Amino acid sequence: MKIYRAKDYDHMSQIAANILAAQIVLKPDSCLGLATGGSPVGTYKKLIEKHKNGDLDFGKVVTINLDEYCGLSKDNDQSYDYYMREYLFNHVNINFGNVNIPNGLEPDAAKECKLYDEIIAKNPIDVQLLGIGTNGHIGFNEPSAEFKFASHHAQLAEATIEANKRYFDSEEKVPKTAYTMGIGQIMLSKKIVLIASGESKADIMYKALHGPIMPQLPASVLQMHRDVTVIGDEAALKHIKQ
Ligand code: GLP
Repeated sequence: MKIYRAKDYDHMSQIAANILAAQIVLKPDSCLGLATGGSPVGTYKKLIEKHKNGDLDFGKVVTINLDEYCGLSKDNDQSYDYYMREYLFNHVNINFGNVNIPNGLEPDAAKECKLYDEIIAKNPIDVQLLGIGTNGHIGFNEPSAEFKFASHHAQLAEATIEANKRYFDSEEKVPKTAYTMGIGQIMLSKKIVLIASGESKADIMYKALHGPIMPQLPASVLQMHRDVTVIGDEAALKHIKQ
């Protein structure tokens, strides 16, 4: 596991964007696993800058997002579909036919998860970008009694609803479930880039990287992956002496 200590959020974003950009330059038809939340916004901004400078061509890139809230349409500004268009896709030359995000409005969970499993199986992920929840979730793989391999319909943890309510008008409006890629599928990515910023992530980053590997702390499984790059700012990595 490589750990980069970034000076701050902007520096973290720059390093993460450099890695994703290098991947696209080396393999223009790369499949990128993409994340949402506050952490990757800066990374996407840097990628947009590289594209606008003429340095980055998304024309053949395939993307697979980690997750989507159930019950939100693509037009809902809190859906991850909307987020991806707002923060990345509308500003680069991505082919929207190559974009994959679960359909949060599909009521048949088994059908949606099977479809997503097929998409992931057909498009091996070259680099998976990850954030981390304060309870150690990755994607919407919440703490549980077992690591779930495949896509599934996840019940959001109380801590996640609490953390994400800042984006909604009220806590009641935060969706209670989501469709998410599974831990096994994340672990099959050839390379993983985990970004974390801010004091609120310091404890969980220490436990995830140095504590026991257990499904009660989903991100701890990353210790078992052969190619993980962690990029954190000083605050998020303050307990990690390395
Ligand atoms: C969200 C997403 C995760 C994200 C995490 C942290 O709920 N499902 O993919 O990594 O929570 O979000 P943030 O980066 O805003 O702290």
